[in-house]
Parts: sequence; C-alpha cells; structure tokens
Amino acid sequence: MQSASLLYFDDEQALASQLAKASGLTATCVDRHVFPDGEIKLRLPTPLPRRVVVLRSLHDPNTKLVELLLAARTARTLGAEHLTLVAPYLAYMRQDVAFTPGEAVSQQIIGRLLAELFDAVITVDPHLHRVSTLQEAVPAKQAIALTAAPLLADFVHQQCPDALLIGPDEESAQWITAAARQHRMDHGVCRKVRHGDRQVDIQLPDVAVANRHVVLLDDIASSGHTLAQAARMLLQAGASSVDVAVTHALFSGDALAVVRGAGVSRIWSTDGVAHESNCVGIAPLLASALTTV
Ligand code: R5P
Repeated sequence: MQSASLLYFDDEQALASQLAKASGLTATCVDRHVFPDGEIKLRLPTPLPRRVVVLRSLHDPNTKLVELLLAARTARTLGAEHLTLVAPYLAYMRQDVAFTPGEAVSQQIIGRLLAELFDAVITVDPHLHRVSTLQEAVPAKQAIALTAAPLLADFVHQQCPDALLIGPDEESAQWITAAARQHRMDHGVCRKVRHGDRQVDIQLPDVAVANRHVVLLDDIASSGHTLAQAARMLLQAGASSVDVAVTHALFSGDALAVVRGAGVSRIWSTDGVAHESNCVGIAPLLASALTTV
C-alpha cells in the first residue's frame, strides 16, 4: 500500500511493532485518556497521511468499538481519505441470526457500523457460520478474511508430527480441512450441541483416537468449555494426550483453568489476541493483506 500510518492502542504494542516491522509502516500509539466516569478521550497524531491503518483486535469489544468510532471519525476530520481496520479478532460475528423474536442480529449491526467507518476491514478466521463471505457480514469496500489455520498447522506439525487434528464442532471443519491438508494429517470433526454459555455436549467423530496425540484446533477459546468437554471425551476414549491450538485466545475469566482442568497438556495460539499461550505470529499474514488495500 502507498505510504500510510499505522495507529494502535497501548495494550497492543507488541503486535503493532511486529506489524510495523512486517509492513514497513510507521506505528504510532493513539493517546488515550479514560475519565473517572469511563468516558474516553483520544488524540491522534497530526498531521495524518491520506492512508491510515488502525490496529484493534476486538476481544472485550464494547469499549473498543467506541474507540474505533472516535478514532475513525477523527482521522477523517484530520484528512485521512482511506481507512483500514486491522482487527485480527472480529467480535460479534457469532450472533448472525435472531434465534428468538426480538433478538439483535449483532453480526449485521456491528458489521455495518465498521463498514461505515472503514474503507477496508482485515480480519483473521472470522466466525462466519450462516453467511459464506465476510463481505456479507461487513459490507465495506474491501472485507478481507484471512486464515491462520495453515500457520497453526505448521506449528502443530513441528511440535507433534503424528498429531490427530480434531475440530470440536461442525463450524471448525473449515479450519481443520485447511490445516490437515497442509501436512496430510489425520483429522476429524466433532458435533456439538450448546445448551448455554458454559454447557456443551460433544459427540466425537468416527475416527480412532485411542493412543493418539490429539490436537484440538478451533477459531476461538472463549469460556473454554467447548475445548474442555471435547478434551474430556477424547481422553475418555483413550487419546494419549490432548493439546489445543486456537487462532483467538480469548480465554475469558477462568477459561484457562477450565481447559487445563479437563486434562489438556499444551495450549497454543496466535498473537492476534495477546495471551500467555501466543506462539504463532500473524504479523506477516496481516502485512501481506495490507499490500492489497
Ligand atoms: C463456536 O462455534 C466457536 O467456534 C467456538 O467453538 C466457541 O465460540 C468457543 O466458545 P467457548 O470457549 O465459550 O465454548
């Protein structure tokens, strides 16, 4: 892309530095003040170039969405003509229909808001279930969905060449297929029925798991209960070990303890959401997408 500024927030400095290095963009931290009552004041660097990239991974999204609203509108006022959002984790994608009358369809509402604010949106492994393209959820001029599955597959294969890759639910089939293809790994996909935020039933696939080193691969670990329940079932079925690899390490609240408590040995994730399990860098992937906007 033509010369542009990369704006980031102080809690994402590590990824911002990696992205600046990989893309050659100059990274500048947005100055942020939080008032005692929770309101936010932002100050962007001036002058701004015509093209601006904003990095904001949208875990714990609510305050960040207000920050993006303030940052994008201010950048336009300061003369930015082309705004790109790099949101490695894109929030609110899971609520893609009204499951009962009156429910907000958050995917459409948040997707449209971001499309109004930004010319291009780049994300990684967005949770698209009942829609097939990111563009349908985020109707920006450019909506780019990248996948970290091959990067996770490389890492998993290095750590455990004979791993059996298992997806914990039907929606993970897309990532399991991409990852398994990379190194011709054995694989399978579970079926999941969700009964509540922290209650899921898992049915294992028809794949022999006894004495296998299983790696559970998924897009998101949130409460951790999907991975935990799948791990328990796999260990009961005779798997010799269960490790976990996810793109987005949300691990909310006690999720890490829940997953470890289920008998999971190693936990790996990309650095799209900063977490102690990060071991796969996605800055080069993001940087290469930036060359297309
Ligand atoms: C949903 O289908 C996703 O792919 C994840 O499996 C899910 O969001 C994980 O949520 P939790 O960690 O709360 O079970």
